[in-house]
Amino acid sequence: MDMDLKNKTALVTGSTRGIGKAIAIELAKEGVNVLINGRNDEEVERTVKEIKLEFPDTVPQNATADIVDIQQREALFKKHPQIDILVNNMGIYEIMKYEEVDDEVWEKYIRTNVLSANGLSKFYLPKMIKNNFGRIIFIASEEAVMPSGQMPQYCMTKSMLLSLSKSLSKLTIGKEVTVNTIMPGPSLSENVQQIIERIYPNENMTFSEKEKEFMTTNLPQSEIQRFIKPTEIGRLTAFICSPYASAFKGSPIRMDGGMVPTIF
Ligand SMILES: NC(=O)c1ccc[n+]([C@@H]2O[C@H](COP(=O)([O-])OP(=O)(O)OC[C@H]3O[C@@H](n4cnc5c(N)ncnc54)[C@H](OP(=O)(O)O)[C@@H]3O)[C@@H](O)[C@H]2O)c1
Repeated sequence: MDMDLKNKTALVTGSTRGIGKAIAIELAKEGVNVLINGRNDEEVERTVKEIKLEFPDTVPQNATADIVDIQQREALFKKHPQIDILVNNMGIYEIMKYEEVDDEVWEKYIRTNVLSANGLSKFYLPKMIKNNFGRIIFIASEEAVMPSGQMPQYCMTKSMLLSLSKSLSKLTIGKEVTVNTIMPGPSLSENVQQIIERIYPNENMTFSEKEKEFMTTNLPQSEIQRFIKPTEIGRLTAFICSPYASAFKGSPIRMDGGMVPTIF
């Protein structure tokens, strides 16, 4: 299906690896000019080159910035003042015991996972409304609606994104601008792959055996009993960006492999 996104411009935060990179690739596949973001300029350049090579008709660009840093965000706005699509993907996560989460950690998570995405949305949303086209997508998590108790500091920020997304959507009434949240379940980013390898250092096990073992032991509620592939989330994101998805307004969209047991 052609998503009718050719020549649109998209900023995907945290797109040098993991889910963000998969989203950038799926958008580039649709002819979107992607702005690649991360803090490491070499990684950003490498990703830009990789995407240019694979999708030569598109114009991927370097958008290196630590988006948690207000000054670096401002510099990014100067360099890329106009975009059609903003995918607020970047987010940090880590298993932590509630007792270990002090105020500094809470603040760090809110600044990193919520305020950075809010800062970008605040700048780009009015421009999208003025142009009468735009897409903002927040990448949350199934933990936004089903906190596991293993990372309270993370889950709270992901729940906050759902609320922010709905509030921003209310500003888009009557416009061809949408703001939505995608909630992936456990996904096989490089980061998650490394975590699994650390849990099962046994060299005689294949990765697929480790994945199966991890799922049976830790995530029996997953109905797919495998990690979600980042490309699956990338493809869904491209669809939500497309004009065919104009009726998704302020929606929480689950792609969690059946992790959340409730109907809604
Ligand atoms: N993986 C999962 O199982 C899963 C499940 C549900 C939801 N999610 C959500 O999906 C999103 C992506 O997860 P992931 O696992 O793909 O992440 P990841 O592998 O850790 O990717 C991190 C990306 O973000 C960039 N980054 C980190 N801090 C940054 C900052 N301050 N400014 C700009 N870029 C920054 C990294 O590049 P640099 O380090 O070079 O900056 C890299 O490109 C997150 O919001 C996460 O909460 C993930």
